Amino acid sequence: GAPIEVDLAPVADGQILKVFWRGKPIFVRNRTEKEIKEAQDVNWQSLPDPAPDSARVKKGHEKWLIVFGNCTHLGCIPLGHQGAYGGWFCPCHGSQFDTAGRIRQGPAPSNLPIPAYAFQSDTKIRIG
Ligand code: FES
Repeated sequence: GAPIEVDLAPVADGQILKVFWRGKPIFVRNRTEKEIKEAQDVNWQSLPDPAPDSARVKKGHEKWLIVFGNCTHLGCIPLGHQGAYGGWFCPCHGSQFDTAGRIRQGPAPSNLPIPAYAFQSDTKIRIG
């Protein structure tokens, strides 16, 4: 599939936009300062799929988390702003993801994957 451009300007602080690329859902999340801090303050080495927040976002654009929207367990679409970690909660079997899209609890074996993307400007990304 061809790359897509996503305008970030209409995505409010704290909001999650869902877009589709190659038939797959992708979450574009404008993280609040609190959500960023929570993601950064985790002892990430102890996580099931260890990754620092800095490896999950682009430097200088820490507000924006871009992840594939299918649970890494069996592919359901997790619900945003839910679960004990404030990221996503998967209603199928209870996996919980944090505000960096990392698996924190439940059967999903790995973090929500990050698609290839780049910032075209501060308010526009190109996915793919
Ligand atoms: Fe998400 Fe099973 S598909 S927990």
